[in-house]
Amino acid sequence: MIQLKLKIDNASRFVSENEIKLFESEVELKRQKIYEKTGAGSDFLGWVDLPAQIDEDLLADLEKDAARIKTDSQVAVVIGIGGSYLGARAVIDALSNNFYPMQYQKSGNPLVVYAGQNIGEEYTAQLLDFLEDKSYSLIVISKSGTTTEPAIAFRLLRKHLEEKYGEQEAAKRIYAITDVSKGALKTLADNKGYKTYVIPDDVGGRYSVLTPVGLLPIAVAGFDIRQFVEGAKNMQQFLQQESALYKNPAALYAVVRNILYRKGKTTEIMASYTPNLMYITEWWKQLYGESEGKEQKGIFPAGVNFTTDLHSMGQYIQDGLRNIFETVVRVENPSRTIEIPHDEDNLDGLNFLAGKRLSYVNKMAETGTMLAHVDGQVPNLEIILPRIDENVLGELIYFFEMGCAISGYILEVNPFDQPGVEAYKKNMFALLEKPGFEKETAEIKERLK
Ligand code: PA5
Repeated sequence: MIQLKLKIDNASRFVSENEIKLFESEVELKRQKIYEKTGAGSDFLGWVDLPAQIDEDLLADLEKDAARIKTDSQVAVVIGIGGSYLGARAVIDALSNNFYPMQYQKSGNPLVVYAGQNIGEEYTAQLLDFLEDKSYSLIVISKSGTTTEPAIAFRLLRKHLEEKYGEQEAAKRIYAITDVSKGALKTLADNKGYKTYVIPDDVGGRYSVLTPVGLLPIAVAGFDIRQFVEGAKNMQQFLQQESALYKNPAALYAVVRNILYRKGKTTEIMASYTPNLMYITEWWKQLYGESEGKEQKGIFPAGVNFTTDLHSMGQYIQDGLRNIFETVVRVENPSRTIEIPHDEDNLDGLNFLAGKRLSYVNKMAETGTMLAHVDGQVPNLEIILPRIDENVLGELIYFFEMGCAISGYILEVNPFDQPGVEAYKKNMFALLEKPGFEKETAEIKERLK
């Protein structure tokens, strides 16, 4: 059995049972296309069977390298962008103490920090300053091995590491996760003798959390990758076996969001009342945005953190343009208990809450917000997790991946390519006068005159 639950009752004013049932045969066909690898982008369906295929040797190797990094490094720098860092960050942040960066030494695990996910000069300079007096290792991740942002960050950090440790010792502190045979990173790794892990050919960046791309950083941060994989595997097996639309949460999620989209609800807001899940939302935004936003179609994925953003975005969600639906990731059992204390003076008037848990207040905020938003014509879906741990997060990640694939097929796009990402690169290379882009450089200069 799986632990994740999908609740759609609070969308029932907007989506009827009949409308959902009309999708039954179509969804079965889409599922077949996924499992039989006959749909659009079928070369990139390696993630479908991945959790059940991760073998003991790989897990042991990852744990061994994680232990080594723990022994020789205070900090692990994960270099990557998009699918090559968001999944790891989402899981690490979800599992970490919110104040862990300030007290990572106490945890006994290296601090995981990120580079190459931007080209901010201040950010990079501050990172290099921070690393100055720390022992550290680099985990450089790029499937293509040619992405500009992480390549620049890697060049800078490699130089810094080599100056600190010398070329030979630095090479022992670099772990490259990339294509099995092609790309500049693979060539560099082979030439310099870095430890390498492979991103399978048939797994795209945003579907790669359950490969070394996610697993190595998660293990380095001190979390149980076996439980994470186990959770994903449970979800994989459950979703594959369950063909009844109402019982298959990934299929149901895909169907309901497409029905809402066809009714003009073109923006989906992912909301959570648990601050640790902020990067789960960021990962989800990439997964769904990059998979579905093409051919002038697609639900726009947005994210909010409640109750924080009820004091900023709450007004719009309640009362702005009515093209929104909301998906709340709810965590039933927080791992800690805090009760609101009684206060003799009661000047803040909060004694009516004395003895109540914070999670109770949070839950009432959540229920109240949901009812208000539904009244304001914002359909509400709920993804309910019993708690946050590695196993549950494995389920959640796989659920979202399968939901995205089915949803993309219902939308009739290829959910596994990203042709739109190339446009900015072409312009950037032209502006940077990259060799091979002479014609584009001349054209763009003309345009900017
Ligand atoms: O999902 C994707 O494919 C992208 O987000 C990529 O992960 C991202 O562009 C980074 O690519 P690469 O891993 O080739 O450096």
